[in-house]
Amino acid sequence: MKVAIIGAGNMGGAIALGMAKGTIVAANEIYVADPSQANLDKLKQQVPAINTLTDNAIAIKDADIVILAVKPWLVNAVLEAITLSNNQILVSIAAGVTIEALRSYTRNEMPIFRLIPNTAISQMESMTFVTSDKASSEQQELIMNIFNEMGLAMAITEDKMGAATALASCGIAYALKYIQAGMQAGIEMGIYPKDAMTMVAQSMKGAAELILNNDTHPAIEIDKVCTPGGITIKGINELEHNGFSSAIIKAMKASNK
Ligand SMILES: NC(=O)c1ccc[n+]([C@@H]2O[C@H](COP(=O)([O-])OP(=O)(O)OC[C@H]3O[C@@H](n4cnc5c(N)ncnc54)[C@H](OP(=O)(O)O)[C@@H]3O)[C@@H](O)[C@H]2O)c1
Repeated sequence: MKVAIIGAGNMGGAIALGMAKGTIVAANEIYVADPSQANLDKLKQQVPAINTLTDNAIAIKDADIVILAVKPWLVNAVLEAITLSNNQILVSIAAGVTIEALRSYTRNEMPIFRLIPNTAISQMESMTFVTSDKASSEQQELIMNIFNEMGLAMAITEDKMGAATALASCGIAYALKYIQAGMQAGIEMGIYPKDAMTMVAQSMKGAAELILNNDTHPAIEIDKVCTPGGITIKGINELEHNGFSSAIIKAMKASNK
């Protein structure tokens, strides 16, 4: 199976590397195109078997899947300059570019997927949202399987893309903000910044694993840590007095505007 990736920036590069680590597409079946030779060289250095080239038209030739990883404002021009066929699969990760717009740019009836990954894709830990048009169930399963190897893929309808992006793509920045704030607290209490960063990040990872790996709920896990009259409930109530839950709800709703 040949996969062409157009754009070897942050996301395109991470997808190429993630795919090469996975079990579905062999590294030598991945073709990455980008005008920047430096970007391509960086990729090639990490996985020499990946094919790199500066010509999009050559990269997409006979590709089963074409992944578009250029900035949203370049999508139209890139798609107009190439000819894709109905038996290829187009996957776009361009933020805000709808399936309807993609369909008008491809000018054909090919299966189109619109995906929203997040930056943790470089760690094979992306939350990736998937919506599609004119895709068979086998094609849907293939794309889900490829991106499930780079984290967690979830099929959603396109009207939920904005809200989902707020929770998981903008949400990763909010989670990082929590780590940063925790570091500030740790430093004030005399802990070295790097140690504080590890402590807070690992506790956040642990919290996420508790939720993702078990049939549980945040309230149940919080209850386990809150001894009556203990130190955790004092901190939790302090968070609420300062509007913690409300701030997160407002931030995520603001990101969906
Ligand atoms: N970063 C995120 O968190 C995130 C999350 C979800 C979705 N996305 C989406 O992912 C897409 C890529 O974002 P990014 O952060 O990876 O951007 P990026 O780092 O700027 O990568 C885009 C790459 O495309 C290359 N490029 C420019 N024109 C091209 C052309 N005509 N043909 C082939 N390649 C071309 C750029 O090369 P030059 O550098 O030489 O211009 C650059 O290497 C965007 O549409 C964005 O909305 C990003």
